[in-house]
Amino acid sequence: MNVVVGITGGIAAYKAVNVVRALVLAGHDVHVVATENALKFVGRPTLEAISRNIVHSDLYEGVAEVRHVAIGQAADLIIVAPATANTIAKIAGGFADDLLGNTILASTAPLVIAPAMHTEMWHNPATVHNIEVVRSRGVTVVGPASGQLTGTDAGLGRMSEPDDIVAAALGVLAPKDLAGKRILITAGGTREPLDPVRYIGNRSSGRQGIALALAAVARGAEVTLIAANLEVAVPESVAVVRVGSTLELAEATTEAAATADAIIMAAAVADYRPETIAQTKIKKESQGDVLDLRLVKNPDILRSLGEQRRDGQVIIGFAAETEPDADALLDLGRAKVLRKGSDYLVINRVGWTEGFVSESNTVVVLNLAGDTVVEASGTKLSVADRILDLLA
Ligand code: C5P
Repeated sequence: MNVVVGITGGIAAYKAVNVVRALVLAGHDVHVVATENALKFVGRPTLEAISRNIVHSDLYEGVAEVRHVAIGQAADLIIVAPATANTIAKIAGGFADDLLGNTILASTAPLVIAPAMHTEMWHNPATVHNIEVVRSRGVTVVGPASGQLTGTDAGLGRMSEPDDIVAAALGVLAPKDLAGKRILITAGGTREPLDPVRYIGNRSSGRQGIALALAAVARGAEVTLIAANLEVAVPESVAVVRVGSTLELAEATTEAAATADAIIMAAAVADYRPETIAQTKIKKESQGDVLDLRLVKNPDILRSLGEQRRDGQVIIGFAAETEPDADALLDLGRAKVLRKGSDYLVINRVGWTEGFVSESNTVVVLNLAGDTVVEASGTKLSVADRILDLLA
């Protein structure tokens, strides 16, 4: 897809680099149109290296190819991030005094803006009015988020996180093929407490589960994300229930499963938990050189969801395995999908450097018969969409 990223002159312009990067990694052809002020915050070489295309900023460059309209005409999607109060006013007024203004006016592509400004400016009646105007014309407004601003102040006005902007923007064009469907997604890794300060955990970051939730929301689904100890923030568009241990995850999941059309168990769940949880910190002085831990088995949530499934409910499990051999990995998956009784099993290889913390993923999806139905590799968002195609 041809995506134009308009970058305007606010400090959040430095984060726009990650918007561009996420779009490029997702396979899009990205053309940056920066205002002169944006280039005071972030350098042209940075944007050209990351976007892999020339950065446009001057209205009077490329006149022979009528660039002031050509860029907008070729765009499938325009994202303005950050969108300053000034730029939003210009969009609302239909101004074309720079290349970005011309590009936007000359385009029929969906327009997504990510406002970024101080709280007072966001609440100013002029900005409030301009936002109403652009919304009424079909512009998608992502954020702003609340949090630390440029100075010592904090509040509403921070630009939304780059991944959230990209997910929301791509969501504008996504097919609404999951509209009205309730999807329960688990993400992250459980922590089994040993005492008030320690736990047994795993390295799952929650990124793949969040990507599934974002992609499902974009496709019109009503998503509940049950999140265990995520390393990354959950975008505002996703309803989240936070849990810690496997037993908490089991309770929350069982409750939400009762009304779900589909369940995706992307969370890395501990198979065992400490038999007892000490109420005060375990002290080495009372243990000696060796500390024995006794672990008891956790319930297998996925398996019991399969046993109690509602009519028509589709269940997708995950299997994170360290098996290096591709055929042996599939054999493990085939045995697991039968054991768990889920409709599909998403197998991904994990290791010291693979899988968990990474921005990308490589998966094979098996059906209950053990056939490979999807092979996908790429950003976790693109992998999420391939998995959701099965539900659609
Ligand atoms: O058996 P294994 O842990 O490899 O299975 C992984 C799949 O089962 C994942 O979808 C995980 O969320 C789920 N699981 C579960 N309850 C457990 C262990 C794993 O639901 N106790």
